[in-house]
Amino acid sequence: MVNFEKSIPAGIDLVDAILKLKREKNAVILAHYYQEEEIQDIADFIGDSLELARAAQKSTADRILFAGVHFMAEGAKILNPSRKVLLPDLRAGCSLSDSCPPAKFAKFRETHPDHFVVTYINCSAAIKAQSDVICTSSNAVKIVKRVLAEFGQDKPILFAPDRNLGAWVAKEVGREMTLWQGACIVHETFSERRLIELKVQNPDAEIIAHPECEPSLLSKADYIGSTSALLNHVIQSPTKKFIVATEEGILHQMRKRAPEKELIPAPPNNSNCSCNECPFMKLNTLEKIYAALLNDGPEVTVPAEIAEKALKPLQRMLDWSV
Ligand code: 13P
Ligand code: SF4
Repeated sequence: MVNFEKSIPAGIDLVDAILKLKREKNAVILAHYYQEEEIQDIADFIGDSLELARAAQKSTADRILFAGVHFMAEGAKILNPSRKVLLPDLRAGCSLSDSCPPAKFAKFRETHPDHFVVTYINCSAAIKAQSDVICTSSNAVKIVKRVLAEFGQDKPILFAPDRNLGAWVAKEVGREMTLWQGACIVHETFSERRLIELKVQNPDAEIIAHPECEPSLLSKADYIGSTSALLNHVIQSPTKKFIVATEEGILHQMRKRAPEKELIPAPPNNSNCSCNECPFMKLNTLEKIYAALLNDGPEVTVPAEIAEKALKPLQRMLDWSV
């Protein structure tokens, strides 16, 4: 294992050193909202998965340092293959992506040969390569509606890997889909009972939730959306208080961009754990970002054959969500 501490000279100002290295190496830092606050603060661009994919595709920097998780970095590499994509810690995976192993998914598809395969971006490149179109939490409803408009209202759809997002989209679109039974460990952690107790104590608060949460929790939400959608809702809504059911990294941008609003993180089942922190996203640190820029690695690559197949559904998503 790499000893990150060893690469850091004593007494160094890490933020200054990262910004200097970033200029020297012509690198851009793309960060997801679930990153630690200090990482969000040095990023060139912060966004939800769709916005990050777009930013990666149009980047002209030599290096894209992805402060996020592995599937996001893979997506950047597929969309912009001539750039070097760095991920500060290659162990930054995703429980949702892991819940959909490529060989098992291939078998599942074989049992549904007539289905159109819509896949949530939180999956590996090997799963994307088996998909007809990709979606994110911000465009999933739009993408499924477009599939039905293009291929007929009766077209059967297989949605993977998130059963909660899939169930929510099916409800919004008003038709059933065959769902792969994957889930996110962070979004399934919220306690419906404790959320209701919190709402009773704060009747003036709006509950806002990410669609990866379980259907029973989503049924209590006043507003459901991607991380960017939740952020914009907090900024624009006249409501003053919000109970936020998603990974708590997003609270940093909410506090920065809407300082007058009161934000209460939704409570996890176990009050003694910080389960609403994504353990994968939180593997990235300023030290590892510095080391990644200095060492030009770890680099994320995608085998050419998989990248070629995965690009088609990714590009289709981008074309359909303009
Ligand atoms: P967003 O696309 O809403 O940012 O979600 C990404 C994610 O991993 C949620 O768990
Ligand atoms: Fe994956 Fe969940 Fe972490 Fe998002 S919050 S990256 S879905 S494990």
